Amino acid sequence: MDKLKELERKGLLRELKLLRQEGVYIKYKGQKFLNLSSNDYLGISGMIEFQREFFETLDTNAFVMGALSSRLLTGNGACAENLESYLSGLYGRECLLYNSGYHANTGILPAIAEKGDLIAADKLVHASIIDGMKLCHCEMKRYKHNDYSDLERILEQSAGRYKSVYIVTESIFSMDGDTANLERLVELKDRYGAKLYVDEAHAFGVVGETGLGCAQHKQLIDRIEYVICTLGKAGASEGAFVVCDPATKQWLINRSRTLIFTTATPPVNILWTHFIIRKMVEMKKEREHLRQITKRLRDKLAGCNILGDTHIIPVVTGENDSCISMAEKMRSKGIWVMPIRYPSVPAGQARIRLSLTAAMSNEQTDMVYESILA
Ligand SMILES: Cc1ncc(COP(=O)(O)O)c(C=O)c1O
Repeated sequence: MDKLKELERKGLLRELKLLRQEGVYIKYKGQKFLNLSSNDYLGISGMIEFQREFFETLDTNAFVMGALSSRLLTGNGACAENLESYLSGLYGRECLLYNSGYHANTGILPAIAEKGDLIAADKLVHASIIDGMKLCHCEMKRYKHNDYSDLERILEQSAGRYKSVYIVTESIFSMDGDTANLERLVELKDRYGAKLYVDEAHAFGVVGETGLGCAQHKQLIDRIEYVICTLGKAGASEGAFVVCDPATKQWLINRSRTLIFTTATPPVNILWTHFIIRKMVEMKKEREHLRQITKRLRDKLAGCNILGDTHIIPVVTGENDSCISMAEKMRSKGIWVMPIRYPSVPAGQARIRLSLTAAMSNEQTDMVYESILA
């Protein structure tokens, strides 16, 4: 097909690789690599004792394997309600589960933002947020990445022109590994009477005293209207939830199409999530270790073109070709990285995204550094 050939010519052709994940390692075609491409930030996937404990305590008579329908039909059981109550206890606010972060962002934004509203979103928000915004019938403006003067300019110009204004951001940005200034965003949204929507996909489990995210770390959980957390990254499960007020939860149950028109998450998955979050809140040691190896690797890479300030460390190479060669070189040294290219990042800003996990040792992070310099 010509379109595929065109992608290949531009170095943009993607393919599925058959991989086997084994803790911090990944196996490909019989070879073992240190995995710098997963989002398993706390290293939970390799904690076999958790899996053992989970399966030993699982009462298989208490649920069926599939949810079999949407939660609005017959798919809502005690597992989902118990998990939501548990999460509400942690956050001190209402919580509503979604099947994934993609479902959450494409289902919540179109349900809350209506014709006559405005969404002001950071330029670098994730594709799932962009797709959610495309489904909205309201106006949309993008502000420069983490540039709150640019956001304020939009808010000033918009004063009195819209029914509601929503500011949309990630807390830790997936491709730049940097952090939004939540205090500043809360201050701005209060000043301009806007509402704040924060995607904590890459902060959940990692940041905050009990891993509840940047909003917890900054003591702002009560001040942000919509906090979105995903469960497939540090949570080593699948799904997502929104932390919101009770009326919003009711509204989403009535209006959010990705909640209403899809089969609910299988109960066994919800039980695993519940089990893992109970463990995750206690994983202070892992969070601290992740911080420490992040600092170690960031300090060593200070001479390279790295971005951000978190456990996601993007090393910018520029063009797609140089990024592909860097990834190949690192792989030849036993480090598994994926080249991140346009359209995942802007053209000319291709990068290797190093994603650290608490299961990595100091020596392993040093190997990453050495593979880049080799
Ligand atoms: C910021 C952000 N939000 C949402 C998602 C989607 O989450 P999920 O993988 O649960 O669909 C991702 C996934 O990479 C993400 O990076």
